[in-house]
Amino acid sequence: MTTAEAYDRFANREVRGISPAYERLSRAVSCDDDLLALLDGLPPAKRQPNLLFGVVRWLGGPVEDPAAFHDFTLANWPAVEAQIRKRATQTNEAGRCAVLLPVLAALPQPLALLEVGASAGLCLYPDRYSYRYGEHRVGSGEPVLECAAAGFAPPERVPEVVWRAGLDLNPLDVTDPDDVSWLDALIWPEHAHRRARLRAAAAVAAADPPLLVRGDLVDDLPALAARAPAGATLVVFHTSVLYQVPLARREEFVRLVRDLPGHWIANEAPEVLPYDGLPDPPGEGMHNVLALDGRPLAWTRGHGQAITWFA
Ligand SMILES: C[S@@+](CC[C@H](N)C(=O)[O-])C[C@H]1O[C@@H](n2cnc3c(N)ncnc32)[C@H](O)[C@@H]1O
Repeated sequence: MTTAEAYDRFANREVRGISPAYERLSRAVSCDDDLLALLDGLPPAKRQPNLLFGVVRWLGGPVEDPAAFHDFTLANWPAVEAQIRKRATQTNEAGRCAVLLPVLAALPQPLALLEVGASAGLCLYPDRYSYRYGEHRVGSGEPVLECAAAGFAPPERVPEVVWRAGLDLNPLDVTDPDDVSWLDALIWPEHAHRRARLRAAAAVAAADPPLLVRGDLVDDLPALAARAPAGATLVVFHTSVLYQVPLARREEFVRLVRDLPGHWIANEAPEVLPYDGLPDPPGEGMHNVLALDGRPLAWTRGHGQAITWFA
């Protein structure tokens, strides 16, 4: 896929109807020869829309008006490029706990959670947040995660978590202002509710930090899994991570995780972790597939805002 096609796809599939500013911007970049030439000078993994837009926002640049974005990015390219090369897309969305919860709550309790690709670890607190699935409320903490649910009865209670650990190539620290400002810049411009959610979830993590280990989800998973306490169900999980992992390593990870004791929950795009016989997604836009131990269960939206059960 060319860089222009990637920006056009991002506009049509990922942000259409969810972030009008990024939809406009992404469409404009897909036809902007100056910006495309600069992006094509970067390694392929560094050309992503979320990374470019996040960096420009982090530098205080305009993202509402494509012409102003073009001028700012061209004028400040050395700074933009330096930050693109330094940083990665590590959006940490606590809202994704709302789509994990039905599976977590149904497993034998208590749970030992191990998240690969954990970023700052905000998805490691599904027991501390509360949830609203339509009229159905679960839990009592903050933030409250809203999720449109179809095809299943939401759980009655949050899971019991006795251990939480995360593995990431570059763990972020919610007590470090630079890391938090980057997590904030990665949130799409109109999403004030997600900014409030980031602050609330970061306060939960800061009060009781998880065990976050710098490492690779293949090379370093067995050693971390071995630290899980006996007497709890080990749950290895990941959401929106494997698209960043090369295919051969993804396959190695799947072989490895299947051999571990306990359970494995994946919430990834269908082209990243393909399954046979998936039904059509319940609407337009990008959907992830939620799966338990390799068995697909539900379509989910990217930030945990909806889940449609089909199993
Ligand atoms: C888009 S973020 C998602 C974070 C979190 N799972 C969530 O849903 O909020 C993807 C994370 O995966 C991490 N990651 C990518 N490749 C990895 C690998 N091979 N091993 C460990 N972590 C990895 C990145 O550093 C990043 O923090």
